[in-house]
Amino acid sequence: MSFSFSKFLLHTSKGIICFVFLQVSFIAFGMHQVRSQGLIADSAMVVSAHKLASEVGTQIMKAGGNAFDAAIAVQFALAVVYPAAGNIGGGGFMVYRMNDGSAGSLDFREKAPHAAHQHMYLDADSQVISRLSLDGHLAAGVPGTVDGMVEIHKRYGSLTWEALLQPAIDLAANGFLLSKREAEKLNAYKHQFIQFNTIEPTEFTAKQWKSGDTIIQIDLAGTLHAIQQMKREGFYGGQTAKLLIEEINRGNGLITQKDLDDYTSVWREPVQGTFGAYHIISIGPPSSGGIMLVLMLNILEHFKLAKWGRRSWKTIHSMIETERRAYAIRAKYLGDKDFYPVPSAQLISKQFAINLMADFTKRKASLSAEVFPEIDRHQESEETTHFSIIDPMGNAVAITTTLNSSFGSKVVVAGAGFLLNNEMDDFSIKPGSPNLYGLIGGKANAIEPGKRMLSSMTPTIIEKDNHLWMVLGTPGGSTIITSVLQTFLNVAIWEMNMQEAVDALKFHHQWLPDLGYIEEGAISKKLQNKLERKGHTFKVREPIGRVDAIMVLPDGRLEGGADWRGEDHASGF
Ligand code: DON
Repeated sequence: MSFSFSKFLLHTSKGIICFVFLQVSFIAFGMHQVRSQGLIADSAMVVSAHKLASEVGTQIMKAGGNAFDAAIAVQFALAVVYPAAGNIGGGGFMVYRMNDGSAGSLDFREKAPHAAHQHMYLDADSQVISRLSLDGHLAAGVPGTVDGMVEIHKRYGSLTWEALLQPAIDLAANGFLLSKREAEKLNAYKHQFIQFNTIEPTEFTAKQWKSGDTIIQIDLAGTLHAIQQMKREGFYGGQTAKLLIEEINRGNGLITQKDLDDYTSVWREPVQGTFGAYHIISIGPPSSGGIMLVLMLNILEHFKLAKWGRRSWKTIHSMIETERRAYAIRAKYLGDKDFYPVPSAQLISKQFAINLMADFTKRKASLSAEVFPEIDRHQESEETTHFSIIDPMGNAVAITTTLNSSFGSKVVVAGAGFLLNNEMDDFSIKPGSPNLYGLIGGKANAIEPGKRMLSSMTPTIIEKDNHLWMVLGTPGGSTIITSVLQTFLNVAIWEMNMQEAVDALKFHHQWLPDLGYIEEGAISKKLQNKLERKGHTFKVREPIGRVDAIMVLPDGRLEGGADWRGEDHASGF
């Protein structure tokens, strides 16, 4: 066994803190495996999709702010430095746990405009009009993010609102340096920015970007300044609202001033469940994430996962069969519970999990077509972002936030500089027709005025033996829930550290299509063959998710897990 320290950084601020990137290489039985450990910090951490946003969060906490203050500042900073998913024109969910153990959640998901209806994306023959729910003005739901941030600050903020907006305003007005990846992404979307806007968003399109260029977003800085000065009114009223409605009208969208006036985010009870010594706190409808996570864990606690091993056929087979059934349940029963009677308590009961697996056999794969064959066939997209925060007082916040797919509808509100979401595609735009993520749905998730579209976002906080233990979440559309599940199991059952659990390759099954998706190398060829002989089919796909997570170590320090699949970053002290 040989050890090598690739990077060792000692940093002192506000007491004695050290953070260590420790890479331990070991050679055992002829195999070479690299173990990595995430950032270690004494008392506070932010893990997000962008270094600058994570640093904004830790600066806020160094200035005495709590996890909620940091979360607000990170959300606004991400709207500037990570415009593909960070947003003010979208929505999301927050799950929190206070240091006294009390927990809650905020739903700031977008809503369908009042003028929305079930046929709005269908042609005269009731066929889905390709990409109408994804590209352009008609794809946008009423944004929830700014209302959400204002609500969080009202209830839990400790620093001034002005102070929380200032870092984002500075980043937008002064600009920041683009990475190679960011430059390439903006270039790749240039054509779409031009195609789906009535007025070209030149702050994104004016040049061919390259690594090291500074991007300045003056219009966005102005909007953030209005929000800083007038809070909710700075977005849902005044000049910003006027520009938004003018934009919508130029593009034949549906959002009106009344939709903006009526938008409210909602404090909701989180979904809670148990798995051995672990207590899960996650998000309820209109996200499917919490219910699905608890349902799958309720099933998996009946299997001998620890004994079988992480990459045994029994484990993979059981997990796929669990996912297959849980996603069928999602399609049939999950939607906005303000509009549809979602049987939440039943779905997360221990008995429901047992009943759902009644036809499970170790001998062979089930057929998805035989799991709820009577269900309406309809389906959900991939660019979202998650961040996890723990503050020095021990409060924890998990936020997943999105425009839906990369850069949402691609519509930039002219003069206001922010992107509008394309979250409407998360509705079942036609029963049985798959959405961007291949998800199917029916009545529970049909479009209705003022309704929230079903989400897979799964911001989650986990306690172990009644103490704060993990904060996690990820983007990835339909794969969000199975990524959170696997990241948790990687640590809880298979004893990985936080960074290893995030790094580990993943697989995913979502009932329909009847296909196991795998990251290249997630399971060996031999194991794949064995599972195929049992009737499973697999398809290698692009990387799954970008988990950003924090774990509380036994000695009370924090380990961050920032996903290598993106340019994600942990910052702490
Ligand atoms: O709410 C949802 O489930 C989707 N709009 C999330 C989209 C997403 O995760 C895209 N990310 N990679």
